[in-house]
Amino acid sequence: MSKILVAYFSVSGVTKQVAERMAKAAGADLYEIVPEQPYTDADANWKNPFARCNKEWFKKLDVPAAGTVEHFDQYDLVLIGFPIWYGCAPVVVSSFAEKLDFTGKKVALFATSISSKMGKTAEKFKPHMNGKGELIADRRILPEESNDIIAEWVSGLK
Ligand SMILES: Cc1cc2nc3c(=O)[nH]c(=O)nc-3n(C[C@H](O)[C@H](O)[C@H](O)COP(=O)(O)O)c2cc1C
Repeated sequence: MSKILVAYFSVSGVTKQVAERMAKAAGADLYEIVPEQPYTDADANWKNPFARCNKEWFKKLDVPAAGTVEHFDQYDLVLIGFPIWYGCAPVVVSSFAEKLDFTGKKVALFATSISSKMGKTAEKFKPHMNGKGELIADRRILPEESNDIIAEWVSGLK
């Protein structure tokens, strides 16, 4: 039986609830990706041009992830979830991935957003896997999608 990890980043809780339901449906371990300096609501207020998120993005700053996944080598399939930020994965998610060795693993991305589709999210994320592992799928998930639909998507990845 393949061992699955669901790793997610979430600021306002939407991706978190999807990730929790996905981990349950998949019988997976759950890991929260946390920035070294966590985001406050004000930090993630992208409507404010002076907010931290906008400064980081427009100045192309790195956003290091705190810690990493212990015993990462035990996983066969890694599902990485995040909110779409500026049309792609948040920088902290890429930083998180860069610290891991995906050799021999399947990787799938899932994301929540207000309106953006996945677009080039996976293509832009792939270089952060350092040429290791296989990115097999990516999907935007609407928070109202049922547990059955989420479970069906995951079982197609195994
Ligand atoms: C800094 C920032 C940038 C965002 N950029 C986009 C975007 O490009 N497209 C979009 O549809 N939503 C965008 N959003 C909205 C989030 O993707 C959406 O609200 C998401 O579901 C929030 O997930 P969370 O509750 O797990 O943090 C952005 C939100 C933030 C904070």
